[in-house]
Amino acid sequence: MIEFRYLRPEDAPLAADIHIAGQQGTTLTLLGRSFLEEFYRAVCCSVWAEGVGAYDDGKLAGFVAVAVSSDKFFSEFKRKHLWRVSIPAAWAVIKHPKIIKYVVQGWNYSDQTLSPERECDGLFIGVKREYLRLGLAPTMVKTMFAWANSIGIETVTFMIEKRNRPMRWMVSYMNDLYVDHEFEVYGRPMLFYKAPIAANLDEAEMPKGKPCTPAHAYKGKKES
Ligand SMILES: CC(C)(COP(=O)(O)OP(=O)(O)OC[C@H]1O[C@@H](n2cnc3c(N)ncnc32)[C@H](O)[C@@H]1OP(=O)(O)O)[C@@H](O)C(=O)NCCC(=O)NCCS
Repeated sequence: MIEFRYLRPEDAPLAADIHIAGQQGTTLTLLGRSFLEEFYRAVCCSVWAEGVGAYDDGKLAGFVAVAVSSDKFFSEFKRKHLWRVSIPAAWAVIKHPKIIKYVVQGWNYSDQTLSPERECDGLFIGVKREYLRLGLAPTMVKTMFAWANSIGIETVTFMIEKRNRPMRWMVSYMNDLYVDHEFEVYGRPMLFYKAPIAANLDEAEMPKGKPCTPAHAYKGKKES
């Protein structure tokens, strides 16, 4: 039975595998497995990010990771986590010197997404090969929308590589989705999509379980 629950730090190794399988040859994948494991551990442990996984009899089959503020999440990741994987990441750069340019460019990723408060930013979504085309990703996204709505987020953004057709087809079903801007990151042309949460909450259910570290919740009056 498939269950949709908060991603746990102990799932970071499987999350890294799913990322590597789904994003062959991209900069984050080339930075290596230990880098990605630390990245997804950070997603679970940070107040600035959250993950929702699809679990088949307790085993991770796919997940979506989002940042409540990519600016704050990436600053924290560089400050608190990157040093742990600096040696394997530096080794990966030596093995694939072409990525140096993209690592430098990706360092200021949040400057390119320009996400204000009350917007959360999709960091990754992926499903294990044997679970593709079963509707898992759309349900994970809906579950993530329910959670985002519960903490006061109003808009979700997704940076999607222009040539990633399955992902673009998948998001094309969202209500009121639009391309906000285009830019290049990691040497690849990207489309930056935005979708309002309220228009996409049909039958959305909250993730089961408890988040490892509850993400920052926006409270109080909306700023003008
Ligand atoms: C994109 C991805 C998450 C979609 O996951 P999924 O659970 O297989 O999604 P679904 O097929 O259930 O998606 C719903 C719709 O998207 C469209 N779609 C998704 N993959 C498709 C494909 N390969 N070919 C054609 N249509 C596709 C279909 O319209 C599908 O609806 P249908 O099955 O009712 O026709 C998955 O392909 C994946 O893990 N890709 C690799 C990782 C990746 O590129 N992630 C994005 C980077 S952030």
